[in-house]
Amino acid sequence: MSARLIFNIGELTTNDPTLGDGSVLGRLRDAALVVDETKVLWVGESAKAPDCDESIDADGAAVVPGFVDSHTHLVFAGERSDEFEARMAGTPYDGGGIARTVAATREASRLELITQTAKRARELQAGGVTTMEIKSGYELTLRGEERLLEIAREFTDEVTFLGAHVVPHEFAHDRRAYVELVINQMLERCAPLARWADVFCERGAFDVDEAREILLQARNLGLGLRVHGNQLGDSGGVALAIELDAASVDHCTFVNDDDLEALAASRTVATLLPGAEFCTRSSYPSGRRMLDAGATVALATDCNPGTSYVTSMAFVIALAVREMAMTVDEALWAATRGGALALRRDDIGHLGVGARADVVLLDAPRAAHLAYRPCGAVVGRTLRALR
Ligand code: NIG
Ligand code: FE
Repeated sequence: MSARLIFNIGELTTNDPTLGDGSVLGRLRDAALVVDETKVLWVGESAKAPDCDESIDADGAAVVPGFVDSHTHLVFAGERSDEFEARMAGTPYDGGGIARTVAATREASRLELITQTAKRARELQAGGVTTMEIKSGYELTLRGEERLLEIAREFTDEVTFLGAHVVPHEFAHDRRAYVELVINQMLERCAPLARWADVFCERGAFDVDEAREILLQARNLGLGLRVHGNQLGDSGGVALAIELDAASVDHCTFVNDDDLEALAASRTVATLLPGAEFCTRSSYPSGRRMLDAGATVALATDCNPGTSYVTSMAFVIALAVREMAMTVDEALWAATRGGALALRRDDIGHLGVGARADVVLLDAPRAAHLAYRPCGAVVGRTLRALR
């Protein structure tokens, strides 16, 4: 494809501070963008835009970078709406339901899993997600985890091995044997299929020492690290993630002042998943407190059947604004550039020249409508660069 011009953009958010108003959002009014099938070629005032063979009139709408959903569990079978109903009536979430999804996923055929994953991926993309991370973690056997990673790879390059999600029931009386299976066999077999390894470091899942052992072996095999930490309590997952220079520590529902100070001084992104607090009726972490402490914050859906059956990044942004005291601009940045940093990527999450041409045209004059009309059809058209 030759160059394509998107002109007459009422409000363009580039997340490139060298552009426009010089803020972190690099915002321009009456702007235009030129892209080819892979990259952004030009950004500037609409009146000064070069001629292109093809053009799109944005008609005064707002344009933002494609959302980067850096945390999903998209490959699973079955549903757990009964647990959701119980939680709404007061039963707390303790991770026990993961075993039900493991049982359903083990039973499902490859075709069923691909069909279901494709449906969820389409929902995410229709809502403006142009990059998604996908984890394994719902089979917890050698061949099963490998199968989930193979399926995830059909949808994204950002694939994460989560064999250490919980200890499966067949190892309930010998958890050490499961940890050793992960370290000695599963990781070896799964590492070539993944970019990342993640561990659920939490009471009822894996403790800090187990998580460290698993993550160190993952790192030896060339994987980048991520941690599910501090979702249900002060699990030590945040400190471990920072100690290991993990790209991201996700949930961070319970963080203490030491964690915050350490996060701010580290490269580890705090990825907040307010869909999980919404669906488990838990208290939200304070995004404000983390930002004020100097931490880098990302937002993601955590799409999974247990704690966050959410496929809308706009809804996640609205929750962050309404419930976590983040401004709309902070939430938008966290859902784009923050997500990119959580995946240690420079080429996505912004629309500076040379970035991937992942562009979302909103059906709204300002990006604030993402939170202002939380259930509205605010995402108009998504352009996704060829991979
Ligand atoms: O990120 N907390 C661990 N894993 C998922 C939930 C998994 C489930 O309940 O099925 C999460 O919330
Ligand atoms: Fe998760």
